[in-house]
Parts: sequence; structure tokens; C-alpha cells
Amino acid sequence: MKTILLGVSGSISAYKAADITNELTKLGYQVDVVMTKSAQEFITPLTLQSLAKRHVHTDVMDEPDVALINHIELAKRADLFLIAPASANIIGKIANGTGDDLLSTVALPLQTDVPKVIAPAMNTYMYQNPVVQRNLATLKELGYQEIEPREALLACGDYGRGALATVETIVDYCQKILADKK
Ligand SMILES: Cc1cc2nc3c(=O)[nH]c(=O)nc-3n(C[C@H](O)[C@H](O)[C@H](O)COP(=O)(O)O)c2cc1C
Repeated sequence: MKTILLGVSGSISAYKAADITNELTKLGYQVDVVMTKSAQEFITPLTLQSLAKRHVHTDVMDEPDVALINHIELAKRADLFLIAPASANIIGKIANGTGDDLLSTVALPLQTDVPKVIAPAMNTYMYQNPVVQRNLATLKELGYQEIEPREALLACGDYGRGALATVETIVDYCQKILADKK
């Protein structure tokens, strides 16, 4: 069984992580969910735990198995690392090697052969911000793949690129990567 390490960060579209978790689990993947503190303002760990049928991880200092270091184990057993939705903040943190919460920390020990995919979601002006674009370019140089956001009427009322790619696009993308991976 292949394991998807799914990071969920603080975007209004975090609720869509429920469908992503559900679809991937139903397809037979083991989904290890890591949520940021902000993500938990938008959707509860209980929801994602019930859909993944696994413990949801939220705190870098929480060590469910005392014999293991949780953030290292999560990274080691991942066949694919997906962040959906990826906030501007988590993109910036990972692009710069910051590890100040579980999601940013878990990204650090990932081996180079683990496919890494980010699906940004944010206001269109945030997405166009040169610093966000620079961070995305850095991540791509480091081997991350981006599932680009859609153009849509956003929750803030602006129209433009920034809406999370559809659940179907994200799930299909992961399936294709994992099918090609030995
Ligand atoms: C209602 C609301 C919606 C938000 N939506 C987004 C979003 O879609 N994308 C984003 O990058 N930040 C969004 N934010 C801001 C982030 O939640 C904030 O930058 C937070 O610090 C991100 O933390 P995280 O990256 O640790 O999850 C939103 C904030 C609020 C209050």
C-alpha cells in the first residue's frame, strides 16, 4: 500500500482536503494527514481522521510512539508528499527551509526521490506577489511540482487565479505520479 503524506494549511479551501483525503483513501492509499494550526481553524482533525481512518498529526512535539521521532517517520514512509491547499505562508517556509511547525518540519527530512507536489490556494494578488512567485520558483528548482490554482471568483470577492485546483485534478495527478513510481 502506498502512503501519501498530505499537508493541509490555512486556506479557506482547507475544507476540500476532506474530499481529497476521502478520494485518496478510497483509492487504496494510506493517507497520513498533517495539519497546520491555521488549517484547524477551517476544518477539524476529527473530520480528516474519520476519512483517512488514521490519526491526524498536528504538533511537532507530539510523539504518539515514544520509540520513534514522528516527523522523521512520517517523511520516511511517504511515497508522495502533497500539500493541498498550500498557503502562501507554508510555501514561503518550505522554500526557505524553515521548520517551525510539523508541516514545515516534515518537509525537511524528505528524500530527493519522494515526489513533492503543492497545490496553492490564495487570493489572486497574493498569488501574483513576486515574493510568492519567487518562493514557488525556488520550490520548483528544488524538485517540487505545482498543481496550479484555477481562475475563479474567489471567497474574498476578487476574480482571478488563486482557487485551489479541483479535487479531481489533484487526485488524478497523485494517482498518475504513484502509478509511474516503482
Ligand atoms: C478567512 C481566511 C481565509 C484565508 N485564506 C487563505 C488562503 O486561501 N491562502 C493563504 O495563503 N492564506 C489564507 N489565509 C491566511 C492564512 O491562514 C495565514 O497566512 C496563516 O498564517 C497561514 O498559516 P499556515 O501556513 O501555517 O497554515 C486566510 C485567512 C483567513 C482568516
